[in-house]
Formats: sequence, C-alpha cells, structure tokens
Amino acid sequence: MNKGRLRIEWAERQMPVLMSLREDFEREKLLVGIRIGMCLHVTTETAVLVRTLRAGGAEIALCGSNPLSTQDDVVETLSEEHTADVYARRGISEEEYYKNIEQVLSIKPHIIMDDGGDLTTVLHKRWEEFGGYVIGGTEETTTGVNRLLSMDKTKQLRIPVIAVNNAMTKHFFDNRYGTGQSTIDGILRATNILLAGKNFVVCGYGQCGRGLASRARGMGAKVIVVEVDYIKALEAVMDGYDVMPIREAARYGDIFVTVTGNINVIRKEHFYLMKDGVILGNSGHFDVEIDVKGLEEISTSRREIRDELEEFTIQDGKKLYLLARGRLLNLACAEGHPSNVMDMSFANQALAVDFLVKEGKDLPVRVLDVPIDIDREVARRKLLTMGINIDQMTEEQKRYLENWEIGT
Ligand code: ADE
Repeated sequence: MNKGRLRIEWAERQMPVLMSLREDFEREKLLVGIRIGMCLHVTTETAVLVRTLRAGGAEIALCGSNPLSTQDDVVETLSEEHTADVYARRGISEEEYYKNIEQVLSIKPHIIMDDGGDLTTVLHKRWEEFGGYVIGGTEETTTGVNRLLSMDKTKQLRIPVIAVNNAMTKHFFDNRYGTGQSTIDGILRATNILLAGKNFVVCGYGQCGRGLASRARGMGAKVIVVEVDYIKALEAVMDGYDVMPIREAARYGDIFVTVTGNINVIRKEHFYLMKDGVILGNSGHFDVEIDVKGLEEISTSRREIRDELEEFTIQDGKKLYLLARGRLLNLACAEGHPSNVMDMSFANQALAVDFLVKEGKDLPVRVLDVPIDIDREVARRKLLTMGINIDQMTEEQKRYLENWEIGT
C-alpha cells in the first residue's frame, strides 16, 4: 500500500476536531458546487483538511506553498483517490512553483486558501484572467497576513480574506508549540547533534520564537534571544533568556534559528564573527532571513554533508553549516507541525471556508478576523476531544461582571 495513505490515516487519528467537522460537512454537504483553490504545504495534515472539504462536496485544486515542503507520497495519495487535483512536487524550481499556482487558479475558484500570500498575490496581479468567481479567501500564516494588510492599506485588496493565523486557537498553539517542536525536530533529524549545553540563538520573539526558545531550553540548551521590539525583548528577559543584538550573539551561538518574518537578519558581517562549526537555520516562511547569497559570496567551497545540511567553508577557513538552503527547516528537514496542533489550525480553516460560503458576499473587502464564535468552538471541541471539562460561571458571577456599581 502507498505509504502516504497510511501516514494520512495516522494524521487523522491525531486530528479529532477536524474529523468531527468532516462528519458535519459530509452530513450537511456544505460545499456542494464550491470550487476551492489551495496553496498550502502539502503534508499529511493538509491531506486531512482536503479530505474534509471534499467530504462537504467541494471541488479542489491544490499546489504547494513552498518548493521544499511537499511530501510526495501525499501528492500521490490525493491524486490516486481523486480527492483533489494536486500540482506539487518536492524540490521544484521557482518557475514550476508559479506554474502550479496558475494551474490552481485556472479552475476559477470561488474560495482561495493560502499560506504565505503567493496565491493571493498572483490572483490580484492577474485579476482579469482569474478573478471572476472569487468570493473570498483565507490566509494561514503571519507572513501572508502581513502581505495582505499591506494590500489592504494601499487599497489593492479585491476580496475579503480571513486571517486564520490571527485566530487565538491558531497562533497561540500552532505558531508556539507547533513551530517550537517542529523546528527542534528538523534540526535533530538533519544534524543528530546534542542540544544540551549548546548556545542556541533564537532571532525573533513572536509566538514562534517563544515556542522555540522554550523547547530549546527544555532540551538543555542555553538560549539567547535577539529582538528589535522593546516589549518582546523585555518579555524575553523576564522569561529568563539572555537578550542581545545579533552582532553580539554571533560570537557565542552554536545554533542560530531565525523566526522573524523579516529579511537579512543574519548577514555577512555576522558570519565573520561566528565560531567554527555553527549551524544556521530558518523557520520563517520565506528563505530571506539568512543572507544565503552573502554566505555563498564569502565562501571558498560548499558541499552537502548530510541531507539538507550544507557545509560552507568561508575565506578564513571556518566552516558554517546551513540547514535546508535557508528555507523553512521545520518542513524541509522534518514534517512540519505535528498533526495534533494542526488540528486546530485546520479546523479554523474549514470553518472559515464554511463562513465565507455562507456570508462571503456580504463581507467587506478587508482582512478579517476569524469570528470569535468559531475560535471558541474550536477550543471547545479540542478540550472535548481531550476529555477535559471546565467550569461555567454561576448566574451570580455573570451579574457581578456586568455590574460597575459593586466596588470596595
Ligand atoms: N505548516 C506548518 N506545519 C504544517 C503542517 N504539518 N502541515 C501544513 N502546514 C504546516
């Protein structure tokens, strides 16, 4: 049997919320007649989402949202079972990547689902060709939401888009626990190094950075945080980490991981300051956070020493090791976030699609939050699947919170 089918079955076991939604979608046939164009990392978890939307009756075309994150056995399985038309393969060129996006848009989707903003950008650049049917979209990640907000601000956005990333049941869990664990997983699979006792530099202290810092500390590493935001830096200090500029951290670090969403965070001038043997990786969405071109320029040789681990010998003879060519290592060196946390992210995605189908035509053309009722429903169902009960407020407590007169 195809390995992809079994791996998807395993992911389904870890995604009980999405599976409960699948039953609802199937029973109510919520998506009959709806065409969905998706640009997501093609993983087992995405397959569980695709199967769920298909169970609701949707017609789906899917392409990958990063050249190195596609799991080819998943592509094979989804294609074999005719769940979706899939345009993805691990290791494709940039040209093929954009061709695949075009293929997805050519089904004239009613809904687009994006991770990073590339599908949405191409839709907008070629609106005359592809724009006709789109009711709205969803966006999975921080980088994509930032791009959308910039389109919104400059009045270039043409469809309502739900920022799934901003749901609390998404970014507090997926970004933090998902990125934390999958980044450590990627580093270990690619290098098999011991983390205990190492100086581990985390660039960026958003939700992803927090998760990563805490997991690295849990493995016995000494964590240094690099930040540009005063408040986040202060949080990192009070969470007990050393905080310093990258120029300083460059001298101490054994492992450096960027999770900032910004460009050229680690640059030539920092490579020169680093110790021999350091490991460099990125878990941000795009491969722009480490200046790989700069690293190439100051290197006299380069070779792949293990899968997705390249050794650069720089001019002074030092060797620096780069993971996954600077692309998001948690998906390129490992399998991305564990299914159990993607369960919540993709439950939000599925419910956001349902919301767009029902309400899309009346929504303002803006970047929109996931409705709070959806967010709460995802948390409620997740707790239920974990067998955890919580308290409910008494009538007296509700009245107390609504009353401003009762004080000292
Ligand atoms: N993004 C991060 N991890 C992922 C996963 N496992 N599947 C899809 N998208 C992801």
